[in-house]
Amino acid sequence: MTPSVFGNLFTHKTVVITGAGNGIGRAVLIAFHAAGANIIAHLGRHSSYAKDLPDTIKYMTGDFTQATQQQAFIDFVQSHTDTIDVLINNAGTMFGRFPADTLTDEQYTDIVELNQHAVVRITRGLLPQLHAASHKVGNAAIVNTVSISALTGGSPGSSIYSATKAFVSTYSKGLARELAPKQIRVNAVSPGVIDTDFHARYSSAEKLEATRQQIPLQRLGTAADCAPTFLYLAAPALSGYITGQVIEINGGQR
Ligand SMILES: NC(=O)c1ccc[n+]([C@@H]2O[C@H](COP(=O)([O-])OP(=O)(O)OC[C@H]3O[C@@H](n4cnc5c(N)ncnc54)[C@H](OP(=O)(O)O)[C@@H]3O)[C@@H](O)[C@H]2O)c1
Repeated sequence: MTPSVFGNLFTHKTVVITGAGNGIGRAVLIAFHAAGANIIAHLGRHSSYAKDLPDTIKYMTGDFTQATQQQAFIDFVQSHTDTIDVLINNAGTMFGRFPADTLTDEQYTDIVELNQHAVVRITRGLLPQLHAASHKVGNAAIVNTVSISALTGGSPGSSIYSATKAFVSTYSKGLARELAPKQIRVNAVSPGVIDTDFHARYSSAEKLEATRQQIPLQRLGTAADCAPTFLYLAAPALSGYITGQVIEINGGQR
């Protein structure tokens, strides 16, 4: 294993990550693992993501458009640990580009269920374990993945997705105030245009190239560009006085 720039900062820490099978979530999982964390992961919907995962990682799959599968993940985590030092709510997607006049109830519900309700329910379900960790050692952390589209509204057909990310952004700030007396910090990472399956699905090569030209750093981001900020925000030694913040990782876009 490549040595981590974070050393063994997360040795004996329990880290829970959703959407960790691919893309940004997988890069975050690998980075926490390299820094010594015990990891309990939701990989996404596909068990094929488990291929080549380190043996020590406990994982399950599940479709978070279903409340029952959100609860199944909460139950799974609780069956493996009494304390959680870090919760990363990262699972999310757009599902497609849906014009406002033809958006179906099912599309609307799926987007909100995955990107918004799952974050609230999983956070609520695992708060007792976060409290237990903060009580024991102080300073547990939640890091939520939001999006630049929470600021801009996104591009056509993504208004509901963008609104759910804005919800999670504001939810993170509110929760940060509420949980501060319990020494649980809450922050969010807001990726810009990151080259993962996400855009392979929803954006044409022409659209991505046009976007790239607008990015001050003149390139799309990568999952590896995003992962260190999750670890930074999760580590009290590095960010113990930071809570209620949204960190934009977007090459300088506004
Ligand atoms: N890539 C970007 O430019 C970008 C920009 C801003 C924000 N984000 C956010 O960053 C996070 C990670 O995205 P990514 O770029 O890494 O995309 P990705 O490679 O598509 O990964 C998304 C993860 O979420 C999981 N997921 C999707 N639908 C799900 C469902 N119905 N139930 C449970 N899990 C589901 C995926 O699993 P399956 O593959 O099995 O569905 C996967 O593990 C998401 O919250 C996304 O909204 C990405």
